[in-house]
Formats: sequence, C-alpha cells, structure tokens
Amino acid sequence: GKVRAPTHIISTISDDRGEEPCYAGVPMSTIIEQGYGVGDVISLLWFKRSLPRYCTQFIEICIMLCADHGPCVSGAHNSIVTARAGKDLVSSLVSGLLTIGPRFGGAIDDAARYFKDACDRGLTPYEFVEGMKKKGIRVPGIGHRIKSRDNRDKRVQLLQKYAHTHFPSVKYMEYAVQVETYTLSKANNLVMNVDGAIGSLFLDLLSGSGMFTKQEIDEIVEIGYLNGLFVLARSIGLIGHTFDQKRLKQPLYRHPWEDVLYTK
Ligand code: ACO
Ligand code: LMR
Repeated sequence: GKVRAPTHIISTISDDRGEEPCYAGVPMSTIIEQGYGVGDVISLLWFKRSLPRYCTQFIEICIMLCADHGPCVSGAHNSIVTARAGKDLVSSLVSGLLTIGPRFGGAIDDAARYFKDACDRGLTPYEFVEGMKKKGIRVPGIGHRIKSRDNRDKRVQLLQKYAHTHFPSVKYMEYAVQVETYTLSKANNLVMNVDGAIGSLFLDLLSGSGMFTKQEIDEIVEIGYLNGLFVLARSIGLIGHTFDQKRLKQPLYRHPWEDVLYTK
C-alpha cells in the first residue's frame, strides 16, 4: 500500500485545497450565503465549531466594545507615536499591540483562570482576594485607572446586561461581582473592569452553552484563548489611530521636558 511521508505541519482549522476554502469544514459559500458574521468565523477558526447565535453575538459585542478606548491608553498612545515617527501601518499597529498584557487588556485569561479556580473551589471573595494579596498578585479583571464605584465602566454593564438576558447561567460572572463588592470595600477604583467581565462571562458561555466538554473548557482556559478577543478588537482602534495621525499629517512626536521629572 501507499506510505504517507510524515508531514512537518498538522493543521485542523481550515482547508484551502478544494474548490473553495473551508473554515472548520464549512465552505466559504455557506458562510456568505447563510449570513454568518465575524462571531461565527471566530467560533469556527478558534473553537472549531458553530456556536449558537447568542454566543456569536456575545463574541461580536466583546469585539465592538473593546475596539477602542480613546487616544490616551497605552496601546493607542504607542500606535500614535509610531505613526508620527513616519512608520508604516503594520509597525504602528504592532507597536500598540505590544502594550497589551497583564495590566492593559491582556488580563482576560488570568481573570478567567483565577475566577474559575476560586469559584470552583468555593472560596469566599474574602478568602480569594486576601489569598491573592498574600501571594502578592493583583486580582486580574479588577481595578481601573479612571473607572470607579461612582463612574462604572459602561462596557462592563452592557456585557452583564446581555448575559443576564441571554445566557442560561451567569454563575462565574456573579462570583466576579461578589469579588468586586469585596474589593470595592477596600478602594473605590477596584471595580470589575472589561477584562474581568469578559473573562468571567466567557467561562459562563463555555460552561453554559453545552457545546464544550469540561476538558475542552480547561484547555481553552489553560492555553489562554481569551486575550485574543482584546487583541483582535483593539487592532480595529489601533489601525484607526494610525490612519488618523497620517490623515492629520502629524509631525514627529517629542515628549515635553516639562512633563518629565529629571532627578538623580
Ligand atoms: N487587585 C488587588 N489590588 C489592587 C488591584 C487589583 N487588581 N489593582 C490595584 N490594587 C490596589 C493595590 O493595593 C495597589 O497597590 P500596589 O501597587 O502596592 O499593588 C493599589 O490598589 C494602587 O494601585 P494603582 O497602581 O494605583 O492602580 P492603577 O490605577 O495604576 O492600576 C490597573 C490600574 C493596572 C488596571 C490595576 O488595577 C491592575 O493591575 N489590575 C489588574 C490587571 C487588570 O485587570 N488589567 C486590565 C485593566 S482593563 C483594560 O486594560 C482594558
Ligand atoms: C481600555 O479599554 O483601553 C481601558 O479600559 C484602559 C483605560 O485605561 O482606559
């Protein structure tokens, strides 16, 4: 019989060999003719399955809500400075993307990991938060530079409202809210942020949709798929900021001396 030479690459999400490309087995014509959206395409290419409409709509809402947060945040600032240095689109985009991490936009996976672990182990918010403090770890998904108890993040409220209406269970989000209630008793700015909302709600999506086994959920959380939502979403804004600077023909940026504390 035929002997198949071992391949150097294994790929399971898409196939471009036939008459038309397929995403997780779904042909491009079906994607277009059946009116699939970006949420469906993400479901196919990241999760290798079609998810129910309320899930794909939730994914799209995450993308829309995280697309931009003004010019002052780390990512936009970097993209703006890079564009003003005369660099190209890709350089300006990645310069912004490189700021996404544990403090900015990239706390979604850790929020999901820690909330899941604490909730599954039945820790009280007090035990969880104080346990994190003892380990010297800030609670991912909690805290914001400009948002606070009296100036809540509208994005978080919109995500919570959507999930309350459409998700069969919001167990993890409710746990995150209890954690927030406790952290707010410590300081006013320790609100649930958008990373914490997406992290906890995605756990609810994964476990409540009935579309994933427990093992698959653990794998998704362990590998860390969820920061991808912020990376993808914020790319939209970073590209916008790059075009904006170029359209405005902004000169090379130099930070003002007055805004630097020169000291020994
Ligand atoms: N958990 C516990 N304590 C916290 C947390 C937290 N998440 N955030 C702040 N604190 C407390 C700490 O006591 C901190 O003191 P420390 O520096 O000794 O740890 C104190 O509040 C003061 O913190 P600041 O540095 O003033 O807070 P800042 O406003 O600079 O930080 C930030 C905002 C970076 C978001 C912070 O709250 C944090 O690290 N959160 C966790 C990571 C996270 O969720 N990032 C995503 C933010 S949303 C987004 O980027 C789209
Ligand atoms: C964002 O979405 O960029 C933020 O929540 C961070 C910020 O400081 O506004």
